[in-house]
Amino acid sequence: MIRAQGLQRIVDAAELAFAGAEMSGPAEVALSKVFERMQTVMPAAPPLGEDLPVLSVLPQAVANLLPRQDSLSTLGQAVQDFAPSLAWTTRKAVGPSASAGFATAHANAVLIGPNGFEPRQDVWVGLSLMAPQTRYPDHDHEPEEVYLVLSDGAFLQGDAEWLPRSAGQTVYNTPWIRHAMRAGDQPFLALWCLPV
Ligand SMILES: [Fe+2]
Repeated sequence: MIRAQGLQRIVDAAELAFAGAEMSGPAEVALSKVFERMQTVMPAAPPLGEDLPVLSVLPQAVANLLPRQDSLSTLGQAVQDFAPSLAWTTRKAVGPSASAGFATAHANAVLIGPNGFEPRQDVWVGLSLMAPQTRYPDHDHEPEEVYLVLSDGAFLQGDAEWLPRSAGQTVYNTPWIRHAMRAGDQPFLALWCLPV
């Protein structure tokens, strides 16, 4: 079985970008599981998403990557090209830590994983997009998680201080750690990978 070309382009560019990024040992192990599992392609079932106005900030997030002319700009372009095929949704569980207006200032899409373009249960790869100055709510989950940061922003883990991260850097979340992220003065895009 062959993966949809637009989706495979994202997977390949993400793998290259991760290969050039610094990360901890556990993050490397988690990512090797994710990319090894994705070598087996499952049938696509493109889901229906919502037409979310916040998607209008995606071109600027991608435009901020294009001058790099590296795997991140390739990835950004691939995301923009494939974005109309994805089911973008909003997070239903929000809570008081999210910024005001969060509901209409963010969108998530699952590329590969539960309810994604390529539905499956062994891996979870998706995207988060936020308008400038948006703060994602605190959340946690059992699977460990590796983010590929695609815009300048900041990440929060447990009780630590906000950690500034820029495009091309990674963030590794251990199982059940409380975490969040926030955009700076530009639209924020990040890709996340979880071996389930
Ligand atoms: Fe998470």
